[in-house]
Amino acid sequence: MPAMLPIIDLNAITQTFASCDGCPVTALQEVSLHLCRHEFVSLLGPSGCGKSTILRLIAGLIRPTEGQVRIFGQPVTEPRDEIGMVFQKPTLLPWLNVLDNITFAMRHKYGHVEKREEARARQLLAMTGLKDFAHKRPHELSGGMQQRVSIARSLLHDPDILLMDEPFSALDALTRDEMSLELLRIWDERPKTMVFVTHSIQEALLLSDRIVLMSARPGRVAAIIDVPLPRPRSLATLTAPAFAHMAYEIRLKVFSTHSNHA
Ligand SMILES: Nc1ncnc2c1ncn2[C@@H]1O[C@H](COP(=O)(O)OP(=O)(O)O)[C@@H](O)[C@H]1O
Ligand SMILES: [Mg+2]
Repeated sequence: MPAMLPIIDLNAITQTFASCDGCPVTALQEVSLHLCRHEFVSLLGPSGCGKSTILRLIAGLIRPTEGQVRIFGQPVTEPRDEIGMVFQKPTLLPWLNVLDNITFAMRHKYGHVEKREEARARQLLAMTGLKDFAHKRPHELSGGMQQRVSIARSLLHDPDILLMDEPFSALDALTRDEMSLELLRIWDERPKTMVFVTHSIQEALLLSDRIVLMSARPGRVAAIIDVPLPRPRSLATLTAPAFAHMAYEIRLKVFSTHSNHA
């Protein structure tokens, strides 16, 4: 049944890093995770539990010490175009304007940017509320706007898989809510398989189909929580009684995961 084939498949991943003091660090231990097509999954867990490591494994930036990572059923051996990534910081090139930042990878790869791609870049700018900023340099934008540019850039290829590593963590609370809702709109409009790293229970609940709760080092999957809140979600979702109830349940689970560990 092809519909059941996991798009992202992590099988018994253990990840060990060498460290300066000679003691290897086990960042992940026996992590298995299976994501279906167009599923939105959040990774929630304390700093250092291996969330970014999971994204880097999926992106093909590192190879697992043990276990297997498969994308579309194939082992991951290198970074691929079907995967977009948004980091915690905007990582824009300061000497290029917004539009050129968005199309940079394409220009770098093919030596030019087709009209069609430039039109799409402008459309993404409009979608992220930056229509009038195409010719501004990054330093002329606020942190939130720069992060929107990063998100627009990650969407230019319309990747099947989008990996987001605490993309809103540097933003103030109001911008953060706004960005979450914007991301929901984008995902509703052009569904993709998403892995979203966050420290925020509310953000994870608002966005996700499932939340993967991770335990502290070595990172393991402590629980996988289904989020049956109806879609499309909106600001009103945040005030639903079911939302508050789930947030409370997850907080209890986080608490017990941490105290078990201590
Ligand atoms: N390249 C690396 N070399 C050595 N240690 C690393 C490396 N990358 C990550 N680690 C360690 O692995 C653990 C998990 O890191 P990370 O995935 O960044 O955690 P998180 O994103 O959950 O905060 C941390 O202890 C970190 O110090
Ligand atoms: Mg991280």
